[in-house]
Amino acid sequence: MQHERDLQDANVVFFGGTAGIGQAAAVEIARRHANIRVVGRDPAAGAATVSALKQAGAASAVFARGDLSTVAGVKEAADAVLAWKPTLHGVVHSAMSAQRGKHITADGLEFAFALQYLARAMLNRLLVDALSASGDGRIIHISGAVGERQVPDLGDLQYERTRWTFFKSALGSHALSFLHIQEASRRWSDRPVTLTAACVGPTKTKVMLDPRMPPIMRLLGMIGTRPEVSARNAVTALVKASAADANGAILRKPKSWTPEPLAFDAGKATKLWDITSVLTAQHGVTL
Ligand SMILES: NC(=O)c1ccc[n+]([C@@H]2O[C@H](COP(=O)([O-])OP(=O)(O)OC[C@H]3O[C@@H](n4cnc5c(N)ncnc54)[C@H](OP(=O)(O)O)[C@@H]3O)[C@@H](O)[C@H]2O)c1
Repeated sequence: MQHERDLQDANVVFFGGTAGIGQAAAVEIARRHANIRVVGRDPAAGAATVSALKQAGAASAVFARGDLSTVAGVKEAADAVLAWKPTLHGVVHSAMSAQRGKHITADGLEFAFALQYLARAMLNRLLVDALSASGDGRIIHISGAVGERQVPDLGDLQYERTRWTFFKSALGSHALSFLHIQEASRRWSDRPVTLTAACVGPTKTKVMLDPRMPPIMRLLGMIGTRPEVSARNAVTALVKASAADANGAILRKPKSWTPEPLAFDAGKATKLWDITSVLTAQHGVTL
């Protein structure tokens, strides 16, 4: 790629970087000699990833064990990142795992909401100062290409009145995360931080092949593309000389760089920001 920024000794965190698309992106960034931190639950996958990152040329590579499905786990992971490096050049989100049916976390939250929306929103807000401190902090969400129609009822985010389905919650959590990107890029417009949703199509990864996934998802996983292909736009968003064209934008096409500004309902984006602040405060975390 032409006109890359210099990532030698830059600090980049991959939440969910011990497998699949996040790991493939981390290996590409390791080739640019960055310091890389990968977060996941399985120490064996973490150790294997660290070894692959070092082999690819990382200036340094560390695995941090963490469970991002709880508010306390997210706070602990964010604090550990800040103790690792006070300045960050990039954060990539791809943590997700399969559950059978509607699963409620230890905090009483619906699982996809907790891991695929709340963890990302919390981490971005807890790490934004460190991202700003680098002078060019980039946040990338690995996502499904959902639209505004998939935004769930903000008055019933835990599916207490609305009937829960796998697709409503999985796609809805991405839609919430797009509202977050839109609102954060507006609120942080005076900061040197960009947020981008990099959408991927069916990809052959651990979560997609998990027996707890609905059969259609496993089928899509089997015929899906390689993680390295799905990681391309996330890598581009991290390395290109300027990511300004992708700030507050969605890259719907995994194989081409075509950023579209997110323009969901602005009132909903602000409301979700406030709901998130209240929710995390109820669990002892001030954003
Ligand atoms: N693959 C696809 O076809 C596809 C399509 C559309 C969107 N996506 C999006 O891509 C992301 C998933 O990436 P992937 O397909 O590359 O999956 P993957 O290979 O299964 O990787 C998921 C990563 O998340 C980590 N993880 C899972 N649960 C975690 C938790 N509670 N706390 C911390 N880390 C956790 C996993 O490590 P541990 O298990 O060790 O924790 C692993 O490193 C999701 O956001 C998903 O919605 C994927």
